[in-house]
Amino acid sequence: MAIDTCIFDAYGTLFDVTAAAREAASEDGFEALADTWAAVARDWRDKQLQYTWLRAVTGDHVDFWKVTADGLDWALEANGLTDPKLRDRLLQLYWDLSAYPEVPDMLGALKDMHLGTGILSNGTPEMLQGAVTSAGVGRLLDHVLSVESVGIYKPSSKVYDMVGRAFGCEAGNVLFVSSNGWDAAAAKGYGFRVAWVNRTGQPVDRLGQMPDHVLDDLTGIPALVKAI
Ligand code: 2OP
Repeated sequence: MAIDTCIFDAYGTLFDVTAAAREAASEDGFEALADTWAAVARDWRDKQLQYTWLRAVTGDHVDFWKVTADGLDWALEANGLTDPKLRDRLLQLYWDLSAYPEVPDMLGALKDMHLGTGILSNGTPEMLQGAVTSAGVGRLLDHVLSVESVGIYKPSSKVYDMVGRAFGCEAGNVLFVSSNGWDAAAAKGYGFRVAWVNRTGQPVDRLGQMPDHVLDDLTGIPALVKAI
């Protein structure tokens, strides 16, 4: 089946969520992070995601910036870090998160193939704009879709519904690309064709849905679309 639309998860897929803690650890004044940045990054991400799932279940929605700050507060306390300047710096770095190096060329190749391209993310419109602008990829994306339009987090089907509304496409003609195994599984269950980007060699999530394709990074996405 031909793919006409390529949709990307943002955090962890296009943007490196470990970059904020890694970069802060190399800056003057934040030496306390030198030995703990990897644990902080992992705890921060784990709590951030757990809070999105729990808030989706309870219906007590707050936006992703609040969830991100709450997750960071938990991670800093868990790792014995109390410096408020470090907290502020980590949040600042998260706003301008680095994109993975292959992202601009990969999106450019998809546009050369005349595909619809977009982001579908838990992030707020402002956070996503910040990350897209700092990566310089705004002109390569037709839509940047935020869950704030529907007021609930992934994996609610209300989030995946946003793609068809924005692009006027059929689910079966969409390639959905995510590095989050649970997001990939939910998108596959929804009816998208799914590529799971497994940069760290993780086992597949046991959620009853298998991704159609597994890639090490995003470089092979244009070739994959051509081959489908
Ligand atoms: C995103 O929606 C799940 O963080 C991931 O961008």
